[in-house]
Amino acid sequence: MAEYDTLIVEHRGAVTLVTLNRPQALNALNGQILTDLLAAMAAYDADPGQRCAVITGSPKAFAAGADIKEMQAQGFAAMYGHDFFAGWDRFAATRKPVIAAVAGYALGGGCELAMMCDFILAADTAKFGQPEIKLGVTPGMGGSQRLTRAVGKAKAMEMCLTGRMIDAVEAERAGLVARIVPADDLVEEAVKTATVIAGMAPLAAIANKEMVLAAFETGLAAGVQFERRLFHGLFGTADQTEGMAAFVEKRPGVWTGS
Ligand code: CAA
Repeated sequence: MAEYDTLIVEHRGAVTLVTLNRPQALNALNGQILTDLLAAMAAYDADPGQRCAVITGSPKAFAAGADIKEMQAQGFAAMYGHDFFAGWDRFAATRKPVIAAVAGYALGGGCELAMMCDFILAADTAKFGQPEIKLGVTPGMGGSQRLTRAVGKAKAMEMCLTGRMIDAVEAERAGLVARIVPADDLVEEAVKTATVIAGMAPLAAIANKEMVLAAFETGLAAGVQFERRLFHGLFGTADQTEGMAAFVEKRPGVWTGS
């Protein structure tokens, strides 16, 4: 398996576990982490044996934001000219399921990275925030959009305008995280959840992900239409035939991803 400067990547059966590993900077997201993550996600998407990924950080920080020291001296022309942060769109475009397992700080770009994953499992130590306003800027990796869609205008606006962090309980109540687990169990619980997903029909997993994401980008009628067409399309797969036969025959399905 490939080695990365800023990540530890392990295979746990059909689950790819990616641990952000820049502890000296609380996993601040610099260009190297982006490069490494894009390579790791491309390898994950391309490997038919890998069916779900988990992204996690350290007990202290999932990621404390984009790397402020890397951005500090930049000007408008460089940021705009290089379309700084555009590479993260490729992370968000990962086709197979990705779970964020968040302990400690998920701030700025860290919160935005967690929100680019398909859902967030939070340790009871997790803290989420968009503190960019304190640096004289705004979210730049999609936070103003994904946070608002996740928690609604009032809380997103308060978080962006004040920089206030919310804890795991508030994040769960607001709909930002799927579930809270004890910090000591976070990674194992995330891998367990990922293993459940990895056991599902692979094409159906991709289709379910695509259609839930479509809810963020389309109106209701177009989204329902998109869902129905993908649903119809799955009736051209062997896994649909197998899954429904397995139900009727009262046995587990055996998936071929075809
Ligand atoms: N960028 C670069 N370095 C960072 C960093 C970041 N986002 N966050 C932490 N670090 C570094 C610190 O500079 C420090 O390095 P040194 O030891 O070399 O000084 C090291 O990580 C440890 O951090 P602290 O000493 O600050 O640790 P702490 O426990 O006292 O505080 C913290 C933790 C509250 C998370 C604090 O580090 C902090 O406020 N970090 C910045 C949070 C932030 O503003 N994030 C948004 C960044 S901008 C952004 O993300 C834009 C976007 O939309 C994508």
